[in-house]
Amino acid sequence: MAEKLLEIENLTVGFQSENGVVKATDRVNLSLGKGQTVCLVGESGSGKSVTSLAVMRLVEYAGGAILEGGIGFQGEELTSRSQNEMMRIRGNKIAMIFQDPMSALNPVYTVGDQIAESIMLHQHKSKSEARRSAVEMLRLVGIPAPEMRAKQYPHELSGGMCQRVVIAVALACDPDLLIADEPTTALDVTVQAQILELLHRLQQELGMSILLITHDMGVAAEMADRIAVMYAGAIVEEGTAEEIFNRPSHPYTIGLLKSVPGLEGARGDELYTIRGQIPSLSQLPSGCRFHPRCPHVKESCKQKEPPVFQVNADHQAACWIYEQGGGEWTLETNRRI
Ligand SMILES: Nc1ncnc2c1ncn2[C@@H]1O[C@H](COP(=O)(O)OP(=O)(O)OP(=O)(O)O)[C@@H](O)[C@H]1O
Ligand SMILES: [Mg+2]
Repeated sequence: MAEKLLEIENLTVGFQSENGVVKATDRVNLSLGKGQTVCLVGESGSGKSVTSLAVMRLVEYAGGAILEGGIGFQGEELTSRSQNEMMRIRGNKIAMIFQDPMSALNPVYTVGDQIAESIMLHQHKSKSEARRSAVEMLRLVGIPAPEMRAKQYPHELSGGMCQRVVIAVALACDPDLLIADEPTTALDVTVQAQILELLHRLQQELGMSILLITHDMGVAAEMADRIAVMYAGAIVEEGTAEEIFNRPSHPYTIGLLKSVPGLEGARGDELYTIRGQIPSLSQLPSGCRFHPRCPHVKESCKQKEPPVFQVNADHQAACWIYEQGGGEWTLETNRRI
C-alpha cells in the first residue's frame, strides 16, 4: 500500500438552500497514496467538484461550508487551517485544473507570461529566469516550438494546446497533489487521449499524485489505480481499478459500466441507461439513496441506509447485498441487470 498523501474522512459539505441545508457531500471517505491516481467518478451533480473544492478549501468561496469531517494532507489537518495558510498550500503543494480550463487562461497575456507569473509566485525566480522556465514547461507538456508559442496569446492556440498550458501553469509550483476536474471533457477524443497520456507521463516523471475527476468510466479505465464511485453526495463503491472493472459491486457502478460503449458489460447495439434520475439533494430518498433506481431493490433497502461493506480486501461497497458477507455479483449477474 502506497504511503498516504491525502486522507478525507467523513467529509460533509453543506450549502444553504431555500429548503434548508443540503449536503452536497455526505460523510465522504477517500484516500490517496503517494504517486497514485485516484479517479472520482459519478453522474453530473453527484458531488465530485464539491469534494475537490473542499480539499482546496475553496468551497467556502462558493458559498458552501464543511459541516463535518477531516481532510488530512501530508499529516496536516486542512479543515482547521486559515485561508492564509491555505494559500501557501494551494500554491505550492496542491494544484488544481478546474472543470472549465479555457476560462482559466487570461486572454490578454501571452501563455508564456501566464506560466512565468505562476513560476515567479511559487519559486521566487527573477522575471527572466521565470520566462526561461516557462518555455521549458511548455516543452515538458509537449508543445512544439515552445519559444514561439510562449509569445502567443490563448486565442492563437488550439483547445488541446490551451489545456496543455493550463497543465503547465498548475505544474509550475511542482505540486505533490494535482487535482484535475474533468480535464478533457471539452476536448475531442484524440486530443483527450493525448492529454491523458501527458498527465500519465508527467506523473511518472514528477512523482506527483493525481485526483482525477471524471464522469467517464473509459477515462478512469485508462488512468486510475483506484476508483471511487460517487452517487448523490456519497461514495457508494471504492476499490482498485482492477476490482472495480472486474468485479463491480454496487448496482450503480454496474449500471455506469454497462452504459459505456465498448466496455465489459455493455452489450448489444443498444446502450444501457440507468432508469430514473439522480435525486435532488434536498429530497433524498429514504434508506439507500440509490434504491428508486436500483434494479435489485428490496423492501429493506427503502428503510435503512446501507453502511460500507467490505467486498474484498481492497474493495468496498455500500449495498445491503453484502450484509451477509457478500453476494455473488458476478459479471453474469451484471449482464442481467
Ligand atoms: N455553489 C453552490 N451553491 C449551492 N449548491 C451547490 C453549489 N455547488 C454545488 N452545489 C450542489 O452540490 C451538488 C454537487 O455539485 P458538484 O458540482 O460537486 O457536482 P459534480 O459531481 O461535479 O457534477 P458535474 O459532473 O456536473 O461537474 C450540486 O448538484 C448542487 O446541488
Ligand atoms: Mg463537477
